[in-house]
Amino acid sequence: MTDEIIRTEKLSKCYALGDIEVHALIDVDFTVTRGDFVAIMGPSGSGKSTLMHILGCLDRPSGGEYYLEGVPVGQLDDQELARVRSGKIGFVFQAFNLLPRTTALDNVSLPMLYGGRRPDRRLAEEALKRVGLGDRLYHKSNELSGGQQQRVAIARALVTSPSIIMADEPTGNLATQQSEEIMQLFQELNDDGITIILVTHEAEIGDHARRIVRFLDGRIVSDMPVENRVFASDLLSQGGATS
Ligand SMILES: Nc1ncnc2c1ncn2[C@@H]1O[C@H](COP(=O)(O)OP(=O)(O)OP(=O)(O)O)[C@@H](O)[C@H]1O
Ligand SMILES: [Mg+2]
Repeated sequence: MTDEIIRTEKLSKCYALGDIEVHALIDVDFTVTRGDFVAIMGPSGSGKSTLMHILGCLDRPSGGEYYLEGVPVGQLDDQELARVRSGKIGFVFQAFNLLPRTTALDNVSLPMLYGGRRPDRRLAEEALKRVGLGDRLYHKSNELSGGQQQRVAIARALVTSPSIIMADEPTGNLATQQSEEIMQLFQELNDDGITIILVTHEAEIGDHARRIVRFLDGRIVSDMPVENRVFASDLLSQGGATS
Protein backbone atom coordinates (compact mmCIF):
# COMPACT_ATOMS: atom_id res chain seq x y z
CA MET A 1 0.00 0.00 0.00
CA THR A 2 1.38 3.42 -0.86
CA ASP A 3 1.61 6.30 1.52
CA GLU A 4 -1.00 8.08 -0.56
CA ILE A 5 -4.43 7.72 0.95
CA ILE A 6 -6.24 10.21 -1.31
CA ARG A 7 -5.47 11.35 -4.82
CA THR A 8 -7.63 13.33 -7.21
CA GLU A 9 -6.76 14.05 -10.82
CA LYS A 10 -8.48 16.90 -12.63
CA LEU A 11 -11.50 16.50 -10.39
CA SER A 12 -14.43 18.67 -11.41
CA LYS A 13 -17.97 19.26 -10.26
CA CYS A 14 -20.53 21.15 -12.24
CA TYR A 15 -24.03 21.86 -10.98
CA ALA A 16 -26.70 22.63 -13.57
CA LEU A 17 -29.34 25.05 -12.37
CA GLY A 18 -31.72 25.54 -15.28
CA ASP A 19 -29.64 27.20 -17.98
CA ILE A 20 -26.92 28.21 -15.57
CA GLU A 21 -23.93 26.00 -14.86
CA VAL A 22 -22.02 26.41 -11.63
CA HIS A 23 -18.46 25.10 -11.80
CA ALA A 24 -17.94 24.32 -8.13
CA LEU A 25 -14.65 22.44 -8.69
CA ILE A 26 -12.33 22.86 -11.68
CA ASP A 27 -9.49 20.43 -12.44
CA VAL A 28 -8.53 19.84 -8.82
CA ASP A 29 -5.36 17.78 -8.28
CA PHE A 30 -5.22 17.03 -4.58
CA THR A 31 -3.15 14.44 -2.73
CA VAL A 32 -3.16 13.45 0.93
CA THR A 33 -0.63 11.11 2.47
CA ARG A 34 -1.47 8.76 5.30
CA GLY A 35 -1.25 10.44 8.67
CA ASP A 36 -1.57 13.98 7.33
CA PHE A 37 -3.79 16.65 8.90
CA VAL A 38 -5.04 19.02 6.21
CA ALA A 39 -7.09 22.18 6.74
CA ILE A 40 -9.07 23.32 3.71
CA MET A 41 -9.72 27.04 3.68
CA GLY A 42 -11.18 29.59 1.28
CA PRO A 43 -14.08 32.01 0.94
CA SER A 44 -17.72 31.02 0.95
CA GLY A 45 -18.69 29.33 -2.31
CA SER A 46 -15.13 28.37 -3.25
CA GLY A 47 -15.94 24.64 -3.39
CA LYS A 48 -14.77 23.34 0.00
CA SER A 49 -17.92 21.42 0.93
CA THR A 50 -18.31 20.17 -2.63
CA LEU A 51 -14.82 18.68 -2.42
CA MET A 52 -15.48 17.15 1.01
CA HIS A 53 -18.69 15.53 -0.20
CA ILE A 54 -16.87 13.93 -3.12
CA LEU A 55 -13.88 12.86 -1.00
CA GLY A 56 -16.32 11.46 1.57
CA CYS A 57 -18.10 9.44 -1.14
CA LEU A 58 -21.34 11.29 -0.38
CA ASP A 59 -21.42 12.69 -3.93
CA ARG A 60 -19.80 11.94 -7.27
CA PRO A 61 -17.65 14.25 -9.42
CA SER A 62 -18.69 15.41 -12.90
CA GLY A 63 -15.23 14.66 -14.24
CA GLY A 64 -11.74 13.54 -13.29
CA GLU A 65 -10.60 10.70 -11.08
CA TYR A 66 -10.66 10.04 -7.36
CA TYR A 67 -8.50 7.30 -5.89
CA LEU A 68 -9.14 6.35 -2.28
CA GLU A 69 -6.39 4.07 -0.95
CA GLY A 70 -5.64 3.29 -4.59
CA VAL A 71 -9.24 2.35 -5.43
CA PRO A 72 -10.72 4.30 -8.39
CA VAL A 73 -13.88 5.41 -6.64
CA GLY A 74 -15.60 6.51 -9.88
CA GLN A 75 -15.93 2.91 -11.01
CA LEU A 76 -17.80 1.73 -7.90
CA ASP A 77 -21.56 1.29 -7.93
CA ASP A 78 -23.66 2.93 -5.23
CA GLN A 79 -23.57 -0.09 -2.95
CA GLU A 80 -19.80 -0.45 -3.19
CA LEU A 81 -19.43 3.28 -2.66
CA ALA A 82 -21.52 3.08 0.52
CA ARG A 83 -19.40 0.18 1.74
CA VAL A 84 -16.16 2.09 1.09
CA ARG A 85 -17.58 5.12 2.87
CA SER A 86 -18.68 3.25 5.97
CA GLY A 87 -15.44 1.27 6.14
CA LYS A 88 -12.81 3.93 5.58
CA ILE A 89 -14.30 7.32 6.38
CA GLY A 90 -15.75 9.00 9.43
CA PHE A 91 -17.64 12.24 8.80
CA VAL A 92 -18.14 15.12 11.25
CA PHE A 93 -20.52 17.97 10.43
CA GLN A 94 -20.89 21.54 11.63
CA ALA A 95 -24.38 20.92 13.01
CA PHE A 96 -23.41 17.68 14.86
CA ASN A 97 -26.36 15.83 13.21
CA LEU A 98 -27.12 13.68 16.26
CA LEU A 99 -30.47 12.02 16.79
CA PRO A 100 -32.39 14.10 19.36
CA ARG A 101 -33.73 12.50 22.56
CA THR A 102 -31.33 9.60 21.95
CA THR A 103 -28.46 8.68 24.25
CA ALA A 104 -24.83 9.28 23.37
CA LEU A 105 -24.31 5.51 23.38
CA ASP A 106 -27.15 4.91 20.91
CA ASN A 107 -26.03 7.77 18.65
CA VAL A 108 -22.52 6.33 18.50
CA SER A 109 -23.85 2.81 17.88
CA LEU A 110 -25.74 3.87 14.73
CA PRO A 111 -22.94 3.60 12.12
CA MET A 112 -22.43 -0.05 13.10
CA LEU A 113 -26.11 -0.63 12.36
CA TYR A 114 -25.86 1.16 8.99
CA GLY A 115 -22.74 -0.82 8.18
CA GLY A 116 -24.80 -3.99 8.52
CA ARG A 117 -23.09 -5.02 11.74
CA ARG A 118 -24.59 -5.79 15.09
CA PRO A 119 -24.03 -2.70 17.21
CA ASP A 120 -21.34 -3.49 19.75
CA ARG A 121 -22.02 -1.29 22.75
CA ARG A 122 -18.54 -1.88 24.12
CA LEU A 123 -17.06 -0.33 20.97
CA ALA A 124 -19.45 2.63 21.28
CA GLU A 125 -18.48 3.02 24.94
CA GLU A 126 -14.79 2.87 24.05
CA ALA A 127 -15.23 5.57 21.38
CA LEU A 128 -17.05 7.81 23.86
CA LYS A 129 -14.30 7.31 26.43
CA ARG A 130 -11.71 8.19 23.80
CA VAL A 131 -13.36 11.59 23.29
CA GLY A 132 -13.59 12.19 27.03
CA LEU A 133 -17.28 11.39 27.50
CA GLY A 134 -17.04 8.22 29.55
CA ASP A 135 -19.28 9.88 32.14
CA ARG A 136 -22.01 10.90 29.67
CA LEU A 137 -22.91 7.58 28.03
CA TYR A 138 -26.61 7.77 28.90
CA HIS A 139 -27.12 11.49 28.39
CA LYS A 140 -29.44 12.32 25.52
CA SER A 141 -28.09 14.69 22.88
CA ASN A 142 -30.32 17.54 24.07
CA GLU A 143 -28.83 17.12 27.56
CA LEU A 144 -25.28 17.80 26.36
CA SER A 145 -23.41 21.05 25.68
CA GLY A 146 -22.46 21.98 22.11
CA GLY A 147 -18.87 20.88 22.61
CA GLN A 148 -20.01 17.61 24.14
CA GLN A 149 -22.43 17.02 21.25
CA GLN A 150 -19.59 17.47 18.79
CA ARG A 151 -17.53 14.98 20.82
CA VAL A 152 -20.37 12.46 20.50
CA ALA A 153 -20.35 13.12 16.74
CA ILE A 154 -16.59 12.50 16.67
CA ALA A 155 -17.06 9.28 18.66
CA ARG A 156 -19.70 8.26 16.11
CA ALA A 157 -17.16 8.91 13.34
CA LEU A 158 -14.54 6.87 15.22
CA VAL A 159 -16.59 3.81 16.09
CA THR A 160 -16.02 2.06 12.75
CA SER A 161 -12.21 2.60 13.05
CA PRO A 162 -11.92 4.74 9.90
CA SER A 163 -8.52 5.54 8.41
CA ILE A 164 -9.71 9.06 7.57
CA ILE A 165 -11.85 11.58 9.41
CA MET A 166 -13.40 14.33 7.32
CA ALA A 167 -14.92 17.32 9.07
CA ASP A 168 -16.75 20.25 7.46
CA GLU A 169 -16.57 23.30 9.77
CA PRO A 170 -16.67 21.12 12.93
CA THR A 171 -16.16 24.15 15.18
CA GLY A 172 -18.49 26.48 13.28
CA ASN A 173 -21.22 26.24 15.95
CA LEU A 174 -18.89 26.33 18.97
CA ALA A 175 -17.44 29.03 21.22
CA THR A 176 -13.65 29.58 21.24
CA GLN A 177 -12.81 27.43 24.28
CA GLN A 178 -14.90 24.51 23.02
CA SER A 179 -13.38 24.89 19.55
CA GLU A 180 -9.88 24.65 21.00
CA GLU A 181 -10.83 21.50 22.90
CA ILE A 182 -12.28 19.90 19.77
CA MET A 183 -9.13 20.79 17.82
CA GLN A 184 -6.99 19.32 20.59
CA LEU A 185 -9.00 16.11 20.24
CA PHE A 186 -8.49 16.06 16.45
CA GLN A 187 -4.76 16.49 17.03
CA GLU A 188 -4.70 13.55 19.44
CA LEU A 189 -6.52 11.37 16.91
CA ASN A 190 -4.05 12.49 14.25
CA ASP A 191 -1.16 11.63 16.59
CA ASP A 192 -2.75 8.16 16.85
CA GLY A 193 -2.36 7.84 13.06
CA ILE A 194 -5.78 8.87 11.74
CA THR A 195 -5.63 11.05 8.63
CA ILE A 196 -7.70 14.21 9.06
CA ILE A 197 -9.16 16.57 6.48
CA LEU A 198 -11.02 19.52 7.91
CA VAL A 199 -12.72 22.57 6.42
CA THR A 200 -12.57 25.82 8.35
CA HIS A 201 -13.00 29.56 7.92
CA GLU A 202 -10.87 30.43 10.94
CA ALA A 203 -7.09 30.86 10.82
CA GLU A 204 -6.74 29.79 14.49
CA ILE A 205 -8.44 26.50 13.67
CA GLY A 206 -6.31 25.94 10.56
CA ASP A 207 -3.17 26.40 12.65
CA HIS A 208 -3.85 23.09 14.40
CA ALA A 209 -3.35 21.25 11.10
CA ARG A 210 -0.06 20.24 9.50
CA ARG A 211 -0.94 21.67 6.12
CA ILE A 212 -3.30 24.32 4.71
CA VAL A 213 -4.84 24.07 1.25
CA ARG A 214 -6.62 27.20 0.03
CA PHE A 215 -9.44 27.25 -2.49
CA LEU A 216 -10.72 30.09 -4.63
CA ASP A 217 -13.46 29.77 -7.25
CA GLY A 218 -13.22 25.98 -7.40
CA ARG A 219 -9.44 25.77 -7.71
CA ILE A 220 -6.56 25.21 -5.32
CA VAL A 221 -4.59 28.45 -5.06
CA SER A 222 -2.08 27.45 -2.39
CA ASP A 223 -0.92 24.35 -0.53
CA MET A 224 1.51 24.94 2.33
CA PRO A 225 2.72 23.44 5.60
CA VAL A 226 1.55 25.26 8.74
CA GLU A 227 4.47 27.32 9.98
CA ASN A 228 3.34 28.22 13.46
CA ARG A 229 1.48 25.07 14.25
CA VAL A 230 -0.41 24.90 17.53
CA PHE A 231 0.35 21.64 19.31
CA ALA A 232 -2.08 19.88 21.61
CA SER A 233 0.66 19.53 24.23
CA ASP A 234 1.17 23.33 24.25
CA LEU A 235 -2.51 23.86 24.98
CA LEU A 236 -2.25 21.49 27.93
CA SER A 237 0.82 23.19 29.39
CA GLN A 238 -0.92 26.55 29.12
CA GLY A 239 -3.54 25.10 31.42
CA GLY A 240 -6.12 25.85 28.75
CA ALA A 241 -8.14 23.10 27.19
CA THR A 242 -8.49 19.78 28.94
CA SER A 243 -10.13 16.63 27.71
N1 LIG B 1 -26.51 21.29 -4.84
C1 LIG B 1 -26.05 22.38 -5.49
N2 LIG B 1 -26.68 22.82 -6.59
C2 LIG B 1 -26.21 23.90 -7.26
N3 LIG B 1 -25.12 24.62 -6.89
C3 LIG B 1 -24.47 24.22 -5.80
C4 LIG B 1 -24.90 23.08 -5.02
N4 LIG B 1 -24.05 22.93 -3.99
C5 LIG B 1 -23.14 23.93 -4.09
N5 LIG B 1 -23.39 24.70 -5.18
C6 LIG B 1 -22.60 25.86 -5.63
O1 LIG B 1 -21.25 25.43 -5.77
C7 LIG B 1 -20.35 26.41 -5.28
C8 LIG B 1 -19.46 25.80 -4.18
O2 LIG B 1 -20.27 25.51 -3.05
P1 LIG B 1 -19.68 24.89 -1.72
O3 LIG B 1 -20.83 24.52 -0.85
O4 LIG B 1 -18.73 23.81 -2.07
O5 LIG B 1 -18.89 26.13 -1.13
P2 LIG B 1 -18.08 26.26 0.25
O6 LIG B 1 -16.68 26.62 -0.11
O7 LIG B 1 -18.29 25.06 1.08
O8 LIG B 1 -18.78 27.53 0.91
P3 LIG B 1 -19.12 27.85 2.47
O9 LIG B 1 -17.84 28.32 3.07
O10 LIG B 1 -20.14 28.93 2.37
O11 LIG B 1 -19.64 26.60 3.10
C9 LIG B 1 -21.20 27.57 -4.80
O12 LIG B 1 -21.21 28.55 -5.81
C10 LIG B 1 -22.57 26.97 -4.61
O13 LIG B 1 -23.58 27.90 -4.85
MG1 LIG C 1 -19.26 24.69 2.90
